Amino acid sequence: MTINIIAGDITTAISDTIVNAANSLMLGGGGVDGAIHRAAGPALLKACYEVPEINGIRCPVGEARITEAGELNAKYIIHTVGPMYYGHKNPALALENAYRHSLQLAISHQCQSIAFPAISCGIYRYPPAQAATIAISVCNEAAFKQLDISFYLFDQSLVSIWQQALAETEQ
Ligand code: APR
Repeated sequence: MTINIIAGDITTAISDTIVNAANSLMLGGGGVDGAIHRAAGPALLKACYEVPEINGIRCPVGEARITEAGELNAKYIIHTVGPMYYGHKNPALALENAYRHSLQLAISHQCQSIAFPAISCGIYRYPPAQAATIAISVCNEAAFKQLDISFYLFDQSLVSIWQQALAETEQ
C-alpha cells in the first residue's frame, strides 16, 4: 500500500475510484462536490438519482455509496458524507467511518487505487490537523494495505498538514 499526498484538483485524478465529499441528499453541492459533478457531467447526477433515498437521505453521515464516474478518469465515484464538525455528537467517529466505508467499498469493487479529498475540512469545518490524523490512521489499517491511496489537497497548508500526519505514523 502507498499513501500519496498531492496538491491539486481531485477532478484531474486518474484513479480506479475518486471519493466525493457529498451531503446526504447526494445531488451535488458546493466545494469538491460541485467540482466533481461539473467535471463528471450529467451522467453522474443521473446515477445519483438512481441511488435509493429514504426521506431525502441517500447516504447517511459516515456511510458511503458508489456510482459510475461520468466523464472523470475513474471507474467509480464513491460518495461519502463527513460530519459537520460543530454540532455532530461524535465527529471523530463519523469521519473515521466515512473513510473506512469508502475504502471498504473500493475493495469490494476490486479497485486498486482510490483518490480522496480532505473530507469535512471545508464547508463542514473539521479542523484539518485532526482530520488528517484520522484519515491517515484509517488508511493505514491492515484491511486496506493492497490499495494505492492518494489525497488530493486543494491548498499547500493542507498538504503540509497531511504530510506531517503521515510522517508521524512512519516514526
Ligand atoms: N479538489 C480537491 N479538493 C477540493 C476541491 C477540488 N476540486 N474543491 C474543494 N476542495 C477541498 C476543500 O478546499 C476542502 O479542503 O475539499 C475539502 C472539503 O471541502 P468541501 O468540498 O467543502 O467538503 P466538506 O467540508 O466535506 O463539506 C461537504 O459541502 O459541497 C458541499 O455538498 C457538499 O454539503 C456538502 C458539504
